Amino acid sequence: MKKYMIETWGCQMNEEDSEKMAGMLNSMGYESTGNKEDADIIVFNTCCVRENAELKVYGNLGILKNLKKSKPDLVIAVCGCMMQQKGMAENIKKNYPFVNLIFGTHNIHKFPQLLNNAMQSQNTIIDLSEDYNIEEGIPIKRESKIKAFVTIMYGCNNFCTYCIVPYVRGRERSRKPSDIIKEVSNLSEEGYREITLLGQNVNSYGKGLDEDIDFAKLLTRLSDVEGIERIRFMTSHPKDISYELIDVIKNCSKVCKHVHLPLQSGSSRILKLMNRNYSKEKYLKIADKLKSEIPGIALTTDIIIGFPGETEEDFEETLDVVKMVRFDSAFTFLYSKREGTPAFKMKEQVDERVKHERFNRLLELVNSIALEKNKEYEGKTVRVLVEDISKNDGTKLMGRTDTGKLVNFSFEGYNADDLFGKIEDVKIEEAFTWSLNGKIAK
Ligand code: SAH
Ligand code: SF4
Ligand code: F3S
Repeated sequence: MKKYMIETWGCQMNEEDSEKMAGMLNSMGYESTGNKEDADIIVFNTCCVRENAELKVYGNLGILKNLKKSKPDLVIAVCGCMMQQKGMAENIKKNYPFVNLIFGTHNIHKFPQLLNNAMQSQNTIIDLSEDYNIEEGIPIKRESKIKAFVTIMYGCNNFCTYCIVPYVRGRERSRKPSDIIKEVSNLSEEGYREITLLGQNVNSYGKGLDEDIDFAKLLTRLSDVEGIERIRFMTSHPKDISYELIDVIKNCSKVCKHVHLPLQSGSSRILKLMNRNYSKEKYLKIADKLKSEIPGIALTTDIIIGFPGETEEDFEETLDVVKMVRFDSAFTFLYSKREGTPAFKMKEQVDERVKHERFNRLLELVNSIALEKNKEYEGKTVRVLVEDISKNDGTKLMGRTDTGKLVNFSFEGYNADDLFGKIEDVKIEEAFTWSLNGKIAK
């Protein structure tokens, strides 16, 4: 059997796209391998949200050059967000002429046909055609048997001034609720217990559809699907989180008590320059409402350090919000200039040294609060959806709480195979910054 390997960079959107490509390759009779040397087809699914992501792709393409020399029949395909940027496909073709196929984020459904074309051609095949129709029914080979990503909307209309995503993923479009419900019902029948609904801004789900539907209503309808026990979602944009949504998270037991609510900056002045459409005060108000309505809710966030023009005072506003909200965890990023975005041209770029110094101060604060919040779990018994053997300790199992905390736990007296996919009581004994340790509660 011929083998393929897919390497994926970037967010869950890309992960789900890669699962679809794996599904299509399986239907074509290929099987997957984790080893580049064994592969007949190598696919790189790329990200360009920050410069680092691109540098990794270039580095990995460089490594493939020798492999291709020793194995001339190897088919190399590069796809994903990075390829959607102006001039990128030509740049790859010129500098890495051994790449057989380049395509973008809008034509994944054409992958089998593109692959065949590439196999029959001496030249690099490039297809960046923009087809905004939503293709349903693509086969999908998921990483997990217990939890699944389900994209509910594609693209983004927000144009935050630092962000490349709207340019490489196109305009916002929502899947029909009936298609989403069908997919989730099938997942339940296959034994899946948790779904994560994906979109760059799930709060604007439903706009442009004929039906009377929004994100809160979709959640309510999905929670009727029997067998699915947990529903997660990401990402919510603070500018349009609704009270209806807060009510659904509060009242619907299947909807997880965790909201990932990217802050980006705590300074209203910077938020305006970022085109985020909310102020520091509005963000704090939403966070307060979520915490008071839903006790124990976990709030996580994304923060960018060193956006053009960010002063020490602006940065301190960010620290201030972090202290007030007390996030369970935060992804922190150094601002990265993306060509084609409005912020690229902004004059007052922040000095690299200053950026790094602020980044370290933020990280220290974020981590100390994350640890304090995790310590609150010590001695408590929590419900954990058991997913797998623990990564660092083969004698333990791992899973997550409703609030998204990673739990590693011992399970003496139980058979691991009986626990996978079940929600079990686990007593937390020790908390760290990134995870909790415990043992199954009898
Ligand atoms: N749609 C999601 C985020 C998608 S990108 C949202 O709006 O929340 C994930 C994160 O990458 C963003 O939240 C932001 O914090 C970060 N990011 C995006 N562009 C960036 C850039 N140019 N430099 C640094 N970080 C960036
Ligand atoms: Fe980027 Fe903003 Fe869209 Fe998120 S909402 S993908 S940060 S433009
Ligand atoms: Fe990267 Fe594309 Fe996601 S740019 S972050 S993979 S939408």
